Amino acid sequence: MKITIFGTGYVGLVTGTCLADVGHDVMCVDVDSDKIARLKAGEIPIYEPGLESMVKHNVATGRLRFTTDAKEAVSFGVLQFIAVGTPPDEDGSADLKYVLAVADTIGEYMQEDKVVVDKSTVPVGTADKVKEAVGKRLASRGVKLGVEVCSNPEFLKEGAAIEDFTHGARIIVGTDSDRVKRLMRECYAPYIRLQEKLMFMDVRAAELTKYAANAMLATKISFMNEIANLAERLGADVEQVRRGIGSDPRIGYHFIYPGCGYGGSCFPKDVQALERTARDVSYDAELLAAVESVNNRQKQTLFTKLANAFDGGLKGRTIALWGLSFKPNTDDMRDAPSRTLMEALWEAGASVQAYDPEAMKECRRLYGERDDLVLAGDRVQAVKGADALVICTEWKEFRSLDFAWLKGQLSMPVIVDGRNLYDPESVREAGLMYYAVGRGDSL
Ligand code: UGA
Repeated sequence: MKITIFGTGYVGLVTGTCLADVGHDVMCVDVDSDKIARLKAGEIPIYEPGLESMVKHNVATGRLRFTTDAKEAVSFGVLQFIAVGTPPDEDGSADLKYVLAVADTIGEYMQEDKVVVDKSTVPVGTADKVKEAVGKRLASRGVKLGVEVCSNPEFLKEGAAIEDFTHGARIIVGTDSDRVKRLMRECYAPYIRLQEKLMFMDVRAAELTKYAANAMLATKISFMNEIANLAERLGADVEQVRRGIGSDPRIGYHFIYPGCGYGGSCFPKDVQALERTARDVSYDAELLAAVESVNNRQKQTLFTKLANAFDGGLKGRTIALWGLSFKPNTDDMRDAPSRTLMEALWEAGASVQAYDPEAMKECRRLYGERDDLVLAGDRVQAVKGADALVICTEWKEFRSLDFAWLKGQLSMPVIVDGRNLYDPESVREAGLMYYAVGRGDSL
């Protein structure tokens, strides 16, 4: 099957590569010529485990190609996936300018009937707008061609995107057209195990499903962070509470890890966009607003704990920071809790010695060269000469730690752990003060 994918960002690239890997002919198109040139040379612009070799392999077989030529791309695929970005605009709603520009391009160049597939996370009602935009362009050309638009939201987690694509919990397709159903079935047919997970529904239900899923997961996290904050004040250990409630299958163990707040390009943006959508239909989404404000407060928690540990005297201090990305196995720092912390530390006159296994380049790109930021070569370098250690991301390599050694490195024996990585008793036995999230006297 011939498939065109607009957008070679995270979603477009993973989708295109996975579909090529199971035998489809895929053309990925992007307006960024630099990016396309790099992709053609097998250079991947993002860090995603397993993706690079998969791209290289499929480019070599000829099933995966990259282009900037929109005309060629539109004529290529029966299915035209839209996987371009939807950045939040000032009021938090998703900005559709890139999505609608692709719709316009499809209308401009199509010479036969096409099926447009919305893969980007877009507000409810966008499929209708895309259809209208393509139709308008067709009308201006004076041609009569059929276009159908379906919603096929992605549920990929950064760091596990290939696994999520190939073994996802479901494939959602929003359409009322039998032809589209047939084509989408054919598109996903090679994923035999996913066949029974293919769910057809109305377009608007599919669009809302994506937001509802992310908002539910964000709600679980904010809920757990709220319980953790309570646990701190009540002298209870939230890790024990987490295990206790997770054992009830109605609650489950997933996404109930308290921490220093959720980040990334999806949860913060999607919760806000859904709130905005609610406002547009005159509904006050109180729970969503609370999920967001609990998270914003939670992202301050590491700074508050550090400031308390130093009695407010952070000026001139050097803080070692492990983990910059918003979660492990990615170099993505969008809305990462580490950023809120670093910016607050700088504001308070402290400097940061940071280490992350993947996000160092990204950190430099975001903050440039500055006196109060040292990017250390490894985790050991990061703590050399530091006053205290803070952990923002639960990378595997941070999980085991020689506490006695660490105590010898830090001028103040303080660990602030935003991910509850260690057993509080073992840390304290080594003579360190341990401030985790929701673990008894962690305030
Ligand atoms: C999320 C969803 O999990 C995907 O299903 C969805 O497709 C994607 O957004 C999207 O909309 O594109 P992602 O943002 O890559 O994926 O990352 P997650 O693994 O969901 O983590 C999000 C944040 O929640 C991270 O900062 C993580 O540290 C935090 N988190 C997660 C917690 O604080 N506690 C938990 O128990 C789980």
